[in-house]
Amino acid sequence: MSQMTAIKNSEVSHLAFLNDVLSGLTKRQKTLPCKYFYDDKGAALFEQITTLKEYYITRTEFAILAAYAPAIAQRLPPKLTIIEPGCGSGKKVAYLLSQLVNVRAFVPFEISTEMLNYSLTHLSAQFPSLVISPLQGDFTHSLTVKQLSKETALDSHTNLVYFPGSTLGNFDPLTAIKILKNFHRLCGINGYILIGIDLIKSRHTLLDAYDDKAGVTAAFNKNLLTRMNNELAANFVLCQFSHQARFNEKHSRIEMHLVSDCCQTVMIGEQKIAFKQGETIHTENSHKYTLASFKKLAQQAQLMLTDTWQDEDGYFALCLLRPY
Ligand code: AVJ
Repeated sequence: MSQMTAIKNSEVSHLAFLNDVLSGLTKRQKTLPCKYFYDDKGAALFEQITTLKEYYITRTEFAILAAYAPAIAQRLPPKLTIIEPGCGSGKKVAYLLSQLVNVRAFVPFEISTEMLNYSLTHLSAQFPSLVISPLQGDFTHSLTVKQLSKETALDSHTNLVYFPGSTLGNFDPLTAIKILKNFHRLCGINGYILIGIDLIKSRHTLLDAYDDKAGVTAAFNKNLLTRMNNELAANFVLCQFSHQARFNEKHSRIEMHLVSDCCQTVMIGEQKIAFKQGETIHTENSHKYTLASFKKLAQQAQLMLTDTWQDEDGYFALCLLRPY
C-alpha cells in the first residue's frame, strides 16, 4: 500500500520558491523568476506602478481599448466565451466585458484560488447575467479546448483568449511561442486571441518606465529581497543592493537587475551566496516588439495577425490573432 503524507499547498509553494531561489542564485549570471514579484505587497506595488507618469503601459492600453472597443467588437462574433489567463482580480476584463454586448461567458484562469474567488465575486455582482466558470491552473502549461469545456462545463462556443498588459513580454521568445501555442489550443480553430504588446520606442522613455523618479519600481524589485528574508530565512541587507533597469538592444528587451553595491556574502538559510561588487541578480525581462517582429512570433504558433489597434504615439498595440 502506498503511503502518502499530506503536504499542504503552502509547503509545496515554499519549497518551490526555495528551489527556484537556490538554483537561480547559484548560476553564473544570478537570476530569479519574475513571478515571485507578486506577493500581496508586490501586487500592491505593481498597482502603484501602473499609476506612475513614467509607466505608460497600463493607461495607454486602456486608452486604446476605450477608443477602439466598438471596432474590436465588430471583428468578433456574438456569444463569445472570454478566457483570461492570469486574470488576477479581473479588473481589466471588466471594461472589455462592459463594451462587448454579446459575451456569453467568462473564464477567469488563474493560479491563485484567492484571486479566482475575488474575480468571481466582483464580476458576478457587476455582470449578473454573465456565466462565470473559474479555471484554476498555470497558463504556461498546456490545456486544450476540450479540457477547457470539460473543466468548466461550457458548451463549445467561440472562444476569445484575452491576454492584456504585455505580460507575454516577460517570456523569452521560445517560451512566448509555447504560450501562444497554448492559447491557440485554448481558443480552438474558430477562436480569437486579443493580446496587448509593448512596442519599441525611445530608449529613455523605456528606461524611465522601469526606473521611476519616486522609486516605486525600485521598491518593487527589492521586494524580492524582502520576500527571501521573510520566507526563506535569508539575510539580504536591502541598502547594499540597488535597482537597475537596462535596455538590452540585442534581445530588444528591458532587463531589471539588483546590483550588489559591495563584495558581500548572503545566507539563504544554511546556504552561502557570494556577491562581487557590481555583480547583479537578473530579475525580469520585458520584451519590446515591432508589429513585424510580433507577427513573426505569432506565425510560429500558427497564428495570423489580423488586426492591430495602437495609440497615436505608437507606444502600445492591441493585436487580434486567429489560428490558421
Ligand atoms: C506586468 C509584465 C507587464 O513588464 O512592464 C512593471 C511588470 N516590471 N515594472 C512590465 C513590470 C516593472 C510589467 N508586466
